[in-house]
Amino acid sequence: MKSSWGTPGMRSTILIQALVVTSVLAVSTLTAQAGREGKGVYKRTCVYCHQTGVSGAPLFGDSAAWQPRIAQGREVLYRHALGGFKGMPAKGANPKLTDAEVRLAVDYMVQNASGQSVPQTSAQRMRVQSDR
Ligand code: HEC
Repeated sequence: MKSSWGTPGMRSTILIQALVVTSVLAVSTLTAQAGREGKGVYKRTCVYCHQTGVSGAPLFGDSAAWQPRIAQGREVLYRHALGGFKGMPAKGANPKLTDAEVRLAVDYMVQNASGQSVPQTSAQRMRVQSDR
């Protein structure tokens, strides 16, 4: 061993490993951020109908109500949230939201609805809602 840095080959391996670690960290930070932003948008706009079920809005966390909607595919949900669908106003009637923010809010709602595969009783649903 001439130097503590090892051979040039070892050095580039270390460099590549450092790059991989950096990009993995960047991606996980972005994912966490997406979750937070989606929640923020939901709480600012979507909560008014999706927490109360106004005009038949599927309730937050109600997996039975969301299942057939999720089955349409994420793109359809995005389109309906962005452009409006029956009682669902375009962008939740908040035109200030960007398309990306609306998509994040859809992701947040879908995540919370599909997390529970067992149908909930209404008592459980009340508890889940008051927790948030
Ligand atoms: C003024 C009330 C209201 C607000 C605010 C609102 N929604 Fe809705 N939303 C509804 C109603 C009502 C439906 C059910 C429409 C139907 O299927 O009859 C719905 C349905 C949906 C669906 C399912 C669409 C489908 O294809 O089944 C998604 C996704 C959705 N809303 C996302 C959002 C997001 C994201 C926000 C916030 C940016 C939001 N909503 C804000 C009333 C609202």
